[in-house]
Amino acid sequence: MQINEKTKADLCLIENDWMMTGGERMALIGILKMFEPASVLEFGCRFGGATKWMSELSHEVVTVDIDSNCEKYISHLDNVRFLNMTTQEAASLLRKEEKKFDMVFVDADHTYAGVYKDLLDAFQLGDIILFHDAYMTACRKGAKKALKNTNYFYDLDFVPGYLQANGLWGGLGIVIPKFTRKEKYIADPRFPVHGLLRLISIFRNPVDIFSNTMLAKKIKRLIRL
Ligand SMILES: C[S@@+](CC[C@H](N)C(=O)[O-])C[C@H]1O[C@@H](n2cnc3c(N)ncnc32)[C@H](O)[C@@H]1O
Repeated sequence: MQINEKTKADLCLIENDWMMTGGERMALIGILKMFEPASVLEFGCRFGGATKWMSELSHEVVTVDIDSNCEKYISHLDNVRFLNMTTQEAASLLRKEEKKFDMVFVDADHTYAGVYKDLLDAFQLGDIILFHDAYMTACRKGAKKALKNTNYFYDLDFVPGYLQANGLWGGLGIVIPKFTRKEKYIADPRFPVHGLLRLISIFRNPVDIFSNTMLAKKIKRLIRL
């Protein structure tokens, strides 16, 4: 086996094109390999780090990004369609086209309202929904709001996130609308560490209580945090 610079890049020891931790990457690749989705929709392409694996492990991929620069990173992938528009616009286009996807990966607008809307769309468009940054306060709140009036099976701690110097980040949440909340893991009930990490985060930086809202941004700017 070759242990080289690529190994470092894959494990996040050096920068590469994929904005997820090593463990999150392995989980996404594992899900793609295990469930073999025929079609995948990605909200938020950036440098195409996740897109290239979706392309390799699925037949058809649609990836959406508001930033037109993203296209150059994935234009060599034959089975990938790039939609340069907002996720909201893409969702309405895909609904008009009557498209459905085996899997949807949500990793675009990380605001409360953005995650809420993206997940509502994802619930309509996909069978298995994964979303990134489930530990970021705004994302988690947006996800909880989207799930509130549903009975869908979900786990916001499918891959737990972490606390960095600048707050809570990462984590993969999963939602399967075709399963209900009566589904439980066979292990003992788990106690997610998110609440504890959030307390520490707020203690270190009280502005985090407002999460990623416009108000928090204004306060941060005012007190130059
Ligand atoms: C965190 S990056 C995606 C990372 C990528 N999924 C990966 O695994 O490396 C978020 C991307 O979402 C895009 N984005 C943010 N808000 C968006 C929106 N409302 N509609 C479409 N794309 C959006 C940004 O331009 C950015 O490229």
